[in-house]
Amino acid sequence: MTLFRKTRRESIKNFSVLPENLPPGMISEAEWLWFSEWAATGYAGKGEIVDLGCWLGRTTTALASGLAQNRRVKTKASRIYAYDMFRWEHGSERFVAGNGAAVRFEPGESCLGEFLNNIDSHNDLIEVCAGDLCKTGWNGKPIEFLLIDAMKSWRTANAVFNNFFPFLMPGRSMIAQQDFGHYFTSWIHLLQFRWKDFFEPLYNVPESGTMVYRYIREIPRELYGKEFSFSDFSDEEADEAFSYSMKAACISNHDAVRASHIMYYIHTGKPEKAMKLLGRYSIEGADMSHPEILDAVAGISKRKGN
Ligand SMILES: C[S@@+](CC[C@H](N)C(=O)[O-])C[C@H]1O[C@@H](n2cnc3c(N)ncnc32)[C@H](O)[C@@H]1O
Repeated sequence: MTLFRKTRRESIKNFSVLPENLPPGMISEAEWLWFSEWAATGYAGKGEIVDLGCWLGRTTTALASGLAQNRRVKTKASRIYAYDMFRWEHGSERFVAGNGAAVRFEPGESCLGEFLNNIDSHNDLIEVCAGDLCKTGWNGKPIEFLLIDAMKSWRTANAVFNNFFPFLMPGRSMIAQQDFGHYFTSWIHLLQFRWKDFFEPLYNVPESGTMVYRYIREIPRELYGKEFSFSDFSDEEADEAFSYSMKAACISNHDAVRASHIMYYIHTGKPEKAMKLLGRYSIEGADMSHPEILDAVAGISKRKGN
């Protein structure tokens, strides 16, 4: 099996093939292939597959097309739980070029119908969970694979921790942090570092932001119920957290992890530290040209009257 080989995507192409009608979405083709391959050959059927933040179904179709080909798992109906608000957000249009060019909604409008169209050929494998995942929660079945693409805030991060993690199976389950390689979501690095006794970084899918972790040790029950925030982390722990992520990241994600480290200092209101780090990483040759980082830094300089 080639799922975790540190090679390029050609190695996983032979089993999973990109469909011609790939739904529009925010994951790369390499991620689509990896998720599909995992569902086809890695999934043992001991627990459910949960897709948190499925949007128009790109992640869901990857998992479903793999599950459809899986020779080990006999009971396939409704094994994939697809969560989303299915509400169109301002600016989402930029992700629907190509296959989805005709997809257009007003901000706030439901895009559930579009998701249902996109999963149509596998809809028997998928349970749709529409609504705010912080409120809908989980049905209590064991979870074998938790694909997390909705940890966009501390609120959803805490909901994922408290509502879904208790159902992971130690030694078997995996989680995929799709925003590991996104500059904005610094809390993912802080939390995965805080949880390092319970998860081990397994594989950073090349050409993508996804980091896959194996759940190695059970999180003690008494740790649940906590609501994390930036105030739970010192700058020293945050710096260690980003070093920890850097060690696990593939080279193509190094700049995103560095950018997220800078964002940590921007989010926590420490512009001097953010600027200092930006300078250090720039000297080291990192590409810090994420528009949002540049905007944030420009805003800091303006406020300081520079
Ligand atoms: C980056 S998009 C997901 C992209 C998708 N996985 C794909 O393959 O293209 C993030 C999604 O998370 C969803 N989301 C964010 N917060 C949520 C919440 N509290 N409950 C349910 N879905 C949420 C958003 O509606 C959005 O569709």
